[in-house]
Amino acid sequence: MLGGEGLSGARAFFDDRAYRYLGESAWITDIELVDDLVEPLQGMKKVLDVCSGPSVLADAARHRDARTVALDLSLRMLMQGPADIARVCGDAQSLPFQEKCFDTALCRQGLHYAQNPRGVVEEMIRVTKGEVRFSNVVMLQAEDLPFWESYAYLVTPARRQYFLQGDLARLATHLGCDVVRHRIFEYSTSVAPSVQHLDPDAQQAVRDLFLKQPDHITSSYQIRPFATDVSYVVRWESVHARVPDWPRALDSRDWERR
Ligand SMILES: C[S@@+](CC[C@H](N)C(=O)[O-])C[C@H]1O[C@@H](n2cnc3c(N)ncnc32)[C@H](O)[C@@H]1O
Repeated sequence: MLGGEGLSGARAFFDDRAYRYLGESAWITDIELVDDLVEPLQGMKKVLDVCSGPSVLADAARHRDARTVALDLSLRMLMQGPADIARVCGDAQSLPFQEKCFDTALCRQGLHYAQNPRGVVEEMIRVTKGEVRFSNVVMLQAEDLPFWESYAYLVTPARRQYFLQGDLARLATHLGCDVVRHRIFEYSTSVAPSVQHLDPDAQQAVRDLFLKQPDHITSSYQIRPFATDVSYVVRWESVHARVPDWPRALDSRDWERR
């Protein structure tokens, strides 16, 4: 399990950002990205939203007649969501629930803040009897890592993990799950909303970072200046996977993230 310092660092970062989080990026409430994880929910009556933030997924699942629980490290992030959702403040790497007590566990854009993303998915599998579903922004190729590390350093320093497209499906398979849906899709966005919390010099540094990338990064992520902002396209990877019987022995090969 992650040591206290790493956890408290992530908690402090999201506590501080909580009150403006919902306005930071259009993806947070984008219907396509929400539906991608909560559709279809037939038969999935008890749903856990892990790394829930302001409970956007938990709320969407609730509107599809599920009983939902939202879990997050940051109480202030949870407090931005509807007050009548069951909310639990805790660590996704050590979920405070019994085995198989949910039908589905969801996690969107939470794995890359965990010291141990595999541990998060293992915990989601442990508490679930139906499916685990998770999605995250991913890189196109390993050479893009310095660019995304520089971005995170400037904008979201609590980020600990960088996934390549395909990593999430490989992780689910490695943990014995049966991947029933796997999507990689593009999402257009821009720099401005995600840098609102920075001072003007730091905002300019982020725009410069995008605009000074080599051609292969510029074309891979379709980076373009527009007005005073910079637009770009990110890839999301999304996995729906049926969980194996639990507990079970994992094979000896570790899950390797390149
Ligand atoms: C980028 S936000 C995503 C929130 C939400 N899933 C969404 O899609 O809008 C990441 C969230 O993960 C939470 N988080 C990070 N590490 C965590 C951990 N170890 N356990 C539980 N939550 C964690 C943060 O507090 C934050 O609310």
